[in-house]
Amino acid sequence: MDTAANNQSAAEADGKDKTLIYRQSRWTRLTHWIWAFSLFFMLLSGLQIFNARPQLYIGKQSGFQFNNTILQIGAENTANGPRGFTEIFGHRFDTTGVLGWSGPPGQETPRAFPSWATIPSYYDLGTARVVHFFFAWILTTTLLVWLIAGLVNGHIRRDLAPRVSDLRKLPRDIVEHAKLKFHHTREYNTLQKMAYGGVLFVLLPLMIVTGLAMSPSMDSVLPWLNEILGGRQSARTIHFTVMVLLVLFFIVHILMILAAGPINELRSIITGWYRTDPPAKHAEPTERSA
Ligand code: HEM
Repeated sequence: MDTAANNQSAAEADGKDKTLIYRQSRWTRLTHWIWAFSLFFMLLSGLQIFNARPQLYIGKQSGFQFNNTILQIGAENTANGPRGFTEIFGHRFDTTGVLGWSGPPGQETPRAFPSWATIPSYYDLGTARVVHFFFAWILTTTLLVWLIAGLVNGHIRRDLAPRVSDLRKLPRDIVEHAKLKFHHTREYNTLQKMAYGGVLFVLLPLMIVTGLAMSPSMDSVLPWLNEILGGRQSARTIHFTVMVLLVLFFIVHILMILAAGPINELRSIITGWYRTDPPAKHAEPTERSA
């Protein structure tokens, strides 16, 4: 009998299920849920803050006399009544009902993001700023805790650091994801490493840095920060773009979890335990022990 079959029958004989492994440490799970929770509040309060000035600019200036607006959400009067619009790089789209002009029928108001997408739902910049900054510090602290724990327990080196073999596996990984064919193993696949690494080492740090650059009090502490980001208005535009990328990541993340088996995936990020594929017949088992 081959090794894999031996292992399987040994596991069956001693009553242990060897396909169930401890995959996510308590630090990974705890930090994951804190940042997921924090990002939810930061997104909704951030959209309320954006509503106070629903335009994005490139460069250091903003105002009527400058021609550097790249995004604008607003409302206008037309022959058919008020309409909401979104303008991106000079291209205008009618977004009535969602962006620019929204609300229950007969009670619509001009607002960039609709009330169901903001915290608070009514216009209140002060409360939105308190919520946003509160969760911003929780998110920053959580990311630092994740970084220290991940370096100490080896999670970053073992699970997220890219290897040369990952590059070789990339084309196969893309094809398999497109066919919704997933392997349930101890390791993250190449696309997962790229997505999670991108979020944890690029998007979230960039979000924090551009957020700090917008704070007037940071001007005196780190005056060069604003400069290297191209000014406060550019920092705000980058901050908004990172938000859009995080929302896109979130949508794909949830779709992939649903496609890969939501019960198993959720169990691993809540309890740590994950069911791997049974070892292939006539093959050596490839999983490392947890
Ligand atoms: C803003 C929201 C979220 C962000 C930014 C996010 C980001 C991430 C990241 C970066 C990882 C890798 C963590 C690591 O290895 O250290 C991860 C893993 C995971 N997340 Fe999320 N997540 C979010 C929300 C959610 C939600 C709502 C669910 C469940 C419905 C979920 C389920 C999972 C699962 C199951 C894993 C384990 C990955 C795997 O085994 O493939 N995440 N998430």
